Amino acid sequence: MPIAVIGSNMVDLISYIHRMPAEGETVEAPEFRMGCGGKGANQAVAAARLGSEVVMVSRVGDDVFADTTLANFERNGIRTDHVLRTEATSGVAPIFVDPDSHNSIIIVKGANALLTPQDVEAAREDIARCGLIVLQLEIPLETVYAAIDLGEKLGIPVLLNPAPASPELDLARITGVDFLVPNETELELLTGMPVSSLEDITKATEVLLTAGISNVIVTLGSRGALWAHADGQEIVEAPAVQAIDTTGAGDAFIGCFSTTWVRSGDVLDAIRAGSAYASDSVTRPGTQTSYAWADGVEPAADASQNG
Ligand code: RIB
Ligand code: NA
Repeated sequence: MPIAVIGSNMVDLISYIHRMPAEGETVEAPEFRMGCGGKGANQAVAAARLGSEVVMVSRVGDDVFADTTLANFERNGIRTDHVLRTEATSGVAPIFVDPDSHNSIIIVKGANALLTPQDVEAAREDIARCGLIVLQLEIPLETVYAAIDLGEKLGIPVLLNPAPASPELDLARITGVDFLVPNETELELLTGMPVSSLEDITKATEVLLTAGISNVIVTLGSRGALWAHADGQEIVEAPAVQAIDTTGAGDAFIGCFSTTWVRSGDVLDAIRAGSAYASDSVTRPGTQTSYAWADGVEPAADASQNG
């Protein structure tokens, strides 16, 4: 069954830096790359590369980045009927990756901030065919809530990745989601509880389970992921790799988790697959550029494909 991703797209402007400049200072960086990003688009592209049909609901601006993003969706086999052009700038993300592979990201949402509950409603027929709705927080919260409500109405499971962390996210509005996938920072903000040990994290997930969320999957970076559910919890370790750029690793996890879970219905299997896929992505530079294709090779562009 297809996967509906209702969310953002950005163009990532990635500088590989020695260090961040201080105020008033100019520093030189050795390398720059531009690529397609945005949490929604990243998750959609990962799922599509692994073989899922993806229904993408998103907004691009009316600039050159919009063309780049639309062509990129098409190149990855993602239909763009519900990717709307908007009188605005496209979302962009200046990203800085340091020599330790850590990143700092600025997002300028642009057109993403204009995705409305009506846009979701307009895609209802296509969403209704899907086996999972996937959401993040780079679009207005009211649109996220509307998508959760639509999922409940249509009886379609919903996965919410509460990223980037938002103090305005209302826990009471998201208790109907089937999968909540935060990282530690997002879990801390959402629950107001400490997350400095696995014991802390477990306690915080219990609050979310009690609130009604069926599965909480906390991504722990190189340490893997913790899955908390009504019958207990599991920790899935991530394969050890040499990380060079961790940008978009969380999105790789979610895209692969979604494809695997929709296929098999096996949560543990999907977490293992997501973890392995994300670990592989951090060994290559960039965001979507670091996501593998199902059979290991990018299909050659043919005449029917753009770009
Ligand atoms: O999660 C990584 C993504 O966050 C980047 O692609 C950037 O666009 C921001 O949305
Ligand atoms: Na990467």
